[in-house]
Amino acid sequence: MSDWTLLGKAQIPGTDQFMYLYQGKDDFSIKLARGQELMNTRKHGSEDALGELPCRRIKEVHNARVLIGGLGMGFTLAAALRTLGPHAEVTVAELIPEVVEWNRGPLGERSGRPLEDPRTRVHVGDVVRLLKQSKGRFDVIALDIDNGPEGLTRSSNNWLYSLMGVATAQSALKPGGVLAYWSAAKDDDFHDLLKSCGLLVDQVQVYAHGHKGARHTLWLATC
Ligand SMILES: C[S@@+](CC[C@H](N)C(=O)[O-])C[C@H]1O[C@@H](n2cnc3c(N)ncnc32)[C@H](O)[C@@H]1O
Repeated sequence: MSDWTLLGKAQIPGTDQFMYLYQGKDDFSIKLARGQELMNTRKHGSEDALGELPCRRIKEVHNARVLIGGLGMGFTLAAALRTLGPHAEVTVAELIPEVVEWNRGPLGERSGRPLEDPRTRVHVGDVVRLLKQSKGRFDVIALDIDNGPEGLTRSSNNWLYSLMGVATAQSALKPGGVLAYWSAAKDDDFHDLLKSCGLLVDQVQVYAHGHKGARHTLWLATC
């Protein structure tokens, strides 16, 4: 990591673990303890797709209400804003206050400063709590709070990928709304779980960067 400068450190709420923001020559990187990279500014094709693909499906909704969880490096939020119209409102829920601050600083340039868009609302806190308080509120919910059904950040995040978690997210959608999940890897059990909730599910493989190499998985599930 010698070419990388540590810019920030934040405790992950509910754990004794930390998250670190590094700046390299051309890119930023967010890492967990033991040097495990959560994401970087070079590869964000699948994060962009998580914002764009579900929002394309509700493009015609005049006052679309969208929830993104979490903020990360802001690429999913920025892609949703690019896809939606001027009357949309996009709430981004982010657990770690420092991550929001990092995006208001130099990191925010990379995603085009989506936090400054007047359609953006920031909720600092657990997206799970927000979902539980939001019955029938959103046209799209796009979730990328961890590595996928097998969480890296905090084990309590795994709940969101359980039957109860999916049902809670589903009940926060308006009729015809779209629930989208990001995952680093394919997961047939999770795919089946979404279908068992009565959702119409598309599983999509998206390149992490450009048009070759590693691919990530998105599920787009419609009520
Ligand atoms: C992989 S990053 C998201 C990347 C994002 N899609 C992007 O475009 O940059 C995961 C983010 O979710 C946040 N997070 C983790 N657990 C959360 C929770 N329970 N509620 C809200 N945010 C959470 C993390 O702090 C981190 O910023």
